[in-house]
Amino acid sequence: MNILQFLLLSCAFASSAFANVYSLESTIPWAPTTPALVDQSTIFNGTYYLSDRSNAGVHVISLSDYTQRMIIGGFHTGLANGSASSELSGPNGLVVLPNRNELYVGDGDGSIKVISLLTNTIVANISTGFQTRADELDYDPMNQIVVVTNPSEHIPSVSIINATSRSVLGNISFPGAFTLEQPAFNPSDLKFYVSIPLSNFYLGGALAVLNITSLTVANTIPIPECLNAGIAFGARNQLFLGCSATQLSAFGFAASYVMDISTGTIVHNISGISGNDQVAYSSSTGWFYAAAFQNVLANGTEIPRVAVIASNGTVLQSIATDNSVAHSLAVDEQTGKLVIPVKARGILVYNRTGTATITVSSSISPISVTPTAKSDAPKQLFNLLFLVGVGLFWSVLWL
Ligand SMILES: *[C@@H]1O[C@H](CO)[C@@H](O)[C@H](O)[C@H]1NC(C)=O
Ligand SMILES: *[C@@H]1O[C@H](CO)[C@@H](O)[C@H](O)[C@H]1NC(C)=O
Ligand SMILES: *[C@@H]1O[C@H](CO)[C@@H](O)[C@H](O)[C@H]1NC(C)=O
Ligand SMILES: *[C@@H]1O[C@H](CO)[C@@H](O)[C@H](O)[C@H]1NC(C)=O
Ligand SMILES: *[C@@H]1O[C@H](CO)[C@@H](O)[C@H](O)[C@H]1NC(C)=O
Ligand SMILES: *[C@@H]1O[C@H](CO)[C@@H](O)[C@H](O)[C@H]1NC(C)=O
Ligand SMILES: *[C@@H]1O[C@H](CO)[C@@H](O)[C@H](O)[C@H]1NC(C)=O
Ligand SMILES: *[C@@H]1O[C@H](CO)[C@@H](O)[C@H](O)[C@H]1NC(C)=O
Ligand SMILES: *[C@@H]1O[C@H](CO)[C@@H](O)[C@H](O)[C@H]1NC(C)=O
Ligand SMILES: *[C@@H]1O[C@H](CO)[C@@H](O)[C@H](O)[C@H]1NC(C)=O
Repeated sequence: MNILQFLLLSCAFASSAFANVYSLESTIPWAPTTPALVDQSTIFNGTYYLSDRSNAGVHVISLSDYTQRMIIGGFHTGLANGSASSELSGPNGLVVLPNRNELYVGDGDGSIKVISLLTNTIVANISTGFQTRADELDYDPMNQIVVVTNPSEHIPSVSIINATSRSVLGNISFPGAFTLEQPAFNPSDLKFYVSIPLSNFYLGGALAVLNITSLTVANTIPIPECLNAGIAFGARNQLFLGCSATQLSAFGFAASYVMDISTGTIVHNISGISGNDQVAYSSSTGWFYAAAFQNVLANGTEIPRVAVIASNGTVLQSIATDNSVAHSLAVDEQTGKLVIPVKARGILVYNRTGTATITVSSSISPISVTPTAKSDAPKQLFNLLFLVGVGLFWSVLWL
């Protein structure tokens, strides 16, 4: 055993010394049918909401008695060869506007459905003017502004919506971007950030900082070798950046990052957690949560996980999930409960155990392999092949 192997093993051993911080409390069966395609989820006032494209609606599930109250229908059921499709079918991303008791949901036809959470009905249909899907969203509660992505446009764009008037104030476009991922409002600096997984100008991914007043990109922060998907703000300008599965083939390692957004510095590099989609932060626990549904080992073996990560970058627990519907997760701000959809099992609710002593294979050994793709080709050729390769990957993997 050389010194590096020894350090890696010690590291793996140290992290597996954590007692589990979560354990399975309840399993809610799928109804009416087991979905093949779900999208984002969230929790508000003890109720869990999950976008389900296969059942063309939003699940409403009470976390007080773990029962499904209803599915809110009325979404665009665009089908590709008879099946729900992530590109054409709604519902997609969603966000709660707490002070308005509303849920904004991106739909497959480019519109936003506004759901009243007091009646669980669609009360407005906001047209963005785009025909391709409206996807992920976030909310600025101070100015009551919603940002929603239109990632499948020829030039990916976001629409800026005034939640008071439910009208579109304008668009910001991202020339050169392949797609867009999670927008996130930073409560520390009151700005919106948009995750750009890949563009002609940023081959490792980037973050765009928006100026909502001038409808422009104020600043773009390059992200090193990540192909970032989901992002979530924690305390004091800490941003969790969930990197994508393609990171391993493109750059030769699997990791996610925590960035201090006030300086642009990567403050934590979390080895072994990649292939992410939705990520979250809970102020009740102070932890980040990553749906690493396409997480891969260095040899390419998929190990889908949800990772619970402390703000110091330590993986506290990793829960085995699946590589299909478990790209979604939600955490209850009040109780810290964690909810993960798993196709073969149902909707899984985990509660805080804190003092539990159950031992599981909670740690994933850090991955360190030699980058292969970029070593021998001239830089330009690599960039070209890389873009084409990742672009293809993207269209296959993207949810
Ligand atoms: C968590 O769920 C388990 C299983 O239902 C239960 O025994 C335990 O009391 C719960 N713990 C808390 C803190 O709610
Ligand atoms: C539908 O199926 C045909 C034939 O297999 C295929 O060529 C086409 O790409 C499919 N369309 C979509 C939108 O998946
Ligand atoms: C959520 O809780 C707040 C505070 O208790 C309450 O005012 C509001 O009506 C609740 N909204 C929903 C949709 O339950
Ligand atoms: C919602 O708006 C879209 C885009 O303007 C429109 O195509 C669609 O028919 C509307 N849906 C409903 C249910 O009104
Ligand atoms: C945003 O772009 C769409 C598609 O080009 C267009 O229909 C819409 O009018 C634009 N919205 C605003 C407010 O400029
Ligand atoms: C949003 O709409 C409300 C109501 O029409 C209006 O008072 C407010 O000025 C608008 N905000 C922005 C930023 O346009
Ligand atoms: C946003 O744009 C407006 C109008 O151009 C400008 O006055 C303002 O300083 C900008 N804000 C930031 C934070 O850059
Ligand atoms: C993160 O760690 C990996 C090894 O696991 C390394 O290859 C990569 O360069 C690091 N990234 C950053 C931004 O430090
Ligand atoms: C990949 O690595 C893991 C962990 O070392 C091992 O268990 C698995 O068998 C390997 N898979 C292949 C296909 O080599
Ligand atoms: C990181 O945070 C966890 C949870 O708070 C704590 O148990 C652990 O000791 C911390 N690790 C380091 C290296 O500070």
